[in-house]
Amino acid sequence: MMINIHVQILLIILLWNSDCQIIPRIEECGLSCSQGVHCKSKPSSDIFNSFCHAAPTSLSSTILKSMKISTVIKCVQGSPCSLHLNIKGSLSLDENIRGLEICSLSLDTQQSQCTNVRFARKKSKMLNGKKVQVQFNCFEVNVAQHIYVTMKTVPNYCDVKMSQEYYVEDCKNSDVGKYIPACLAGKLDYNVERAKKIISVNVSNFLRDQDYYVRLCHKWFTCEDVGQFAVIKGKDALKSVSLKYSQLLPCLCIEGWLAVPDARRIQLCPFENDTKVLWDNIVYNPATQTLAWEPACPVLVTVNLCRLTKSNDHCEDIQNSSKHFPEKVKYSRVDTHPRLCMKFTTKQGSWVKCPFAHGEFPAWKMRTAAVADQIQVFFTSQTKAHFSVLVCNKTQLASCDSLGMHHSVSVGDSVSITMSQEMCGSTICIQGWRTDVDYSVPLQICDIHCGFRGHTYGNGSPAKAMTHRMKSMHSLH
Ligand SMILES: *[C@@H]1O[C@H](CO)[C@@H](O)[C@H](O)[C@H]1NC(C)=O
Ligand SMILES: *[C@@H]1O[C@H](CO)[C@@H](O)[C@H](O)[C@H]1NC(C)=O
Ligand SMILES: *[C@@H]1O[C@H](CO)[C@@H](O)[C@H](O)[C@H]1NC(C)=O
Ligand SMILES: *[C@@H]1O[C@H](CO)[C@@H](O)[C@H](O)[C@H]1NC(C)=O
Repeated sequence: MMINIHVQILLIILLWNSDCQIIPRIEECGLSCSQGVHCKSKPSSDIFNSFCHAAPTSLSSTILKSMKISTVIKCVQGSPCSLHLNIKGSLSLDENIRGLEICSLSLDTQQSQCTNVRFARKKSKMLNGKKVQVQFNCFEVNVAQHIYVTMKTVPNYCDVKMSQEYYVEDCKNSDVGKYIPACLAGKLDYNVERAKKIISVNVSNFLRDQDYYVRLCHKWFTCEDVGQFAVIKGKDALKSVSLKYSQLLPCLCIEGWLAVPDARRIQLCPFENDTKVLWDNIVYNPATQTLAWEPACPVLVTVNLCRLTKSNDHCEDIQNSSKHFPEKVKYSRVDTHPRLCMKFTTKQGSWVKCPFAHGEFPAWKMRTAAVADQIQVFFTSQTKAHFSVLVCNKTQLASCDSLGMHHSVSVGDSVSITMSQEMCGSTICIQGWRTDVDYSVPLQICDIHCGFRGHTYGNGSPAKAMTHRMKSMHSLH
């Protein structure tokens, strides 16, 4: 048992070590050829040279023997280290061959680098058939690049070619992570000055003589720019910047990176739990009677229209109003009643916002009065409206079962409902709602007592009473 655990630990150490393999260092890049063969290289970019000639019959097609690729780190005192491909090829010398062309193509950027290796002519004739090793390590590459390396003869004979794909080590390699600027993402410390709407950022742990960029962004699929990025100059003594923001949104992130190609970026998104601010973005258009909500950040949320109950601690969903973002949250022909609210439900809880609670939109009221065995229902409204009235039996908190008596009425008119003795009970309610809109709050007057006392809904304007309570959000869990 103990042995087993030890073997596992050993395996883990071995696997972990595979990312920390040592990459050889060089101070200068160059070309070398074995066997005393004199060779020199010059950069080549002659794409037309890539057309091939038929190989002479005397030429063996296995003249190119092998190709091996690895990575080296070039570090020169006083400047940042860089990564280079170390390409080792071997071939048999032949009088038909003057040299080699080695090319490296980045499969990420499609950029290529080529070099032309020439053998000294006289010597190669003498060494005909001799195997020679060519080593070249001047192609600079980036961290984690996907490379395609080819080796061809000069002249370029058809079918005499070697190629290989290669992945350059990434920042997880301890040597690369420690010495290559693109991996030194830096460390960010920030401070929010809410009064000035400024985030100040201190940067540490990066190459101090290099420029460094800091920006604010909104994270959707990618992190989208919010304003300009700031530069910390390599020569600045104070590695600090201030960035202005307009709102502390949950998707607001601070990003920092060194001013070198393909630099690794460090990202902090410290406000991701501050979702409350997202629910403020409700817009009502009176011309189209459209109520819409657009999130400033991506968020997993279910949105409902709901009716705020009299006790203000519960908002009953209005049927068929449920929407799940990223579905468009837009309701047309919406009643502007103060008790019509929007409910946002996320994993963290529920929030209710009542866009019409502040009394600036037309509201309507329902009242009842008892006359003998009749209940009279009146509607008042600042605008033209049509209503439906229903007697229902409130068997559960959230549902009122219709007792089948339906009446239509316009504003200013009233409707009389004849109540029988058995309909007198505390669970019987009269429900009214607007029928000239798609989404209306059903208002209810319950507790219709026998003896027919008059009941009115609310005292004065419910809109006014709500104003104070609904200015701030209700968090319902
Ligand atoms: C940033 O650095 C300055 C100067 O060293 C220091 O006064 C400030 O507290 C630092 N701010 C943060 C957020 O670390
Ligand atoms: C957000 O909340 C989750 C769960 O409560 C927590 O794990 C996470 O650290 C919080 N994020 C921030 C930036 O505070
Ligand atoms: C809700 O949707 C269902 C199915 O689409 C429909 O049958 C029902 O009448 C709708 N209810 C309301 C109140 O619109
Ligand atoms: C209302 O519902 C309750 C419970 O289901 C029932 O006992 C009662 O008879 C109902 N009242 C009417 C008038 O239907």
